[in-house]
Amino acid sequence: MSQFIYQMEPWFSDEEKKALADYFDRGGWATEFEKTKELEKSIAEFTGSKHCVFTTSGTAALFLILKALGIGAGHEVIVPDFTMIGTANAVHWAGAEPVFVDIHPSNWCLDLDGVEKAITPKTKALILVSFNGRSPKMNRAKEIADRHKIFLIEDAAQSLGSRSKGQHLGTFGIAGMFSFSAPKVITTGQGGAIVTSSDELDQKIRQLKDFGRKQSGVDEHPVMGYNFKVTDIQSVIGIEQMKKLPWRLERKKEMYALYRKELEGVDEIEWVETNLEEASPWFIDVLVSEREELREFLKSEGVGTRPVYPPIHSQGAYGKKGSFPVTEKIAKHGLWLPSSSFLKDEDIIQICRKIKKFYLEV
Ligand SMILES: Cc1ncc(COP(=O)(O)O)c(C=O)c1O
Repeated sequence: MSQFIYQMEPWFSDEEKKALADYFDRGGWATEFEKTKELEKSIAEFTGSKHCVFTTSGTAALFLILKALGIGAGHEVIVPDFTMIGTANAVHWAGAEPVFVDIHPSNWCLDLDGVEKAITPKTKALILVSFNGRSPKMNRAKEIADRHKIFLIEDAAQSLGSRSKGQHLGTFGIAGMFSFSAPKVITTGQGGAIVTSSDELDQKIRQLKDFGRKQSGVDEHPVMGYNFKVTDIQSVIGIEQMKKLPWRLERKKEMYALYRKELEGVDEIEWVETNLEEASPWFIDVLVSEREELREFLKSEGVGTRPVYPPIHSQGAYGKKGSFPVTEKIAKHGLWLPSSSFLKDEDIIQICRKIKKFYLEV
């Protein structure tokens, strides 16, 4: 292990290079067109959803879903306090109020009892983040949303390839989304995919994404819209990455299992129960003691790690008060270990040796 191992790196090879060269040789205009349709079709098929709309990022995808559902000023949307900040920011930018709810320690996803308590007459939706491919009981989440007549939106940014009872995450509510940013299991550099089975929502989202146009290429704008179109350059890369998705998902599961095995018996490391039959973890996530000291030690040994997200409510952007004990504990002790899909078993064994060295010998 001579080179520094980053916590996560994207992985492109000759296939993406060749596909891009072919695309330009055939006179591609780079703008969003046929290749994006092809990518959308392959994501819809893979996830078993009727429609897929590709857009500039996962955050933009969530924003478009909220706008298309008419969610905005005067509305509240429930989001977990423990998530990537984009989840909450999409709500803010739609004009609604993100209401933070703590997560459950068993899966690091929204605590559904907490969700019930946080619903008010202003609540229009709950955004369920399936953290690292794990999920709470999805039928219960759906039942809560239905009973309170609010929308269930899925932030499945980290869950491409993960399921609950055989059904792909992202497809349980009115709409779901995935992120294709650089650290994800597959990537287009930046990018986000919306999935929905609603024809009406699909049409609205396409319209909002394209300046509110009545139809593509026609300069008539019956509604206020945005420009959240992508480029076929991203989609050419995405099509090649989608072909690699099945084996990368399997590799992530193997990696997770190997880390667990190698770190067995290290009492300073705590795991979140992860059912690898259903979840394909994009990152190896653990709770550790002496997190900063471990990070420093591993860095000096050529191994990169990343602390998990801080509680969103306490970020300067929100500055809210409240009690979120589970989020706070996880934010303090949570750590992402090296997770790039190209890591070899020997790399993982070496990384685990160093972790054991830190706890057992240092
Ligand atoms: C749970 C979650 N939600 C939202 C996002 C935002 O996605 P993007 O970076 O594509 O905007 C991410 C990105 O990591 C995420 O992990």
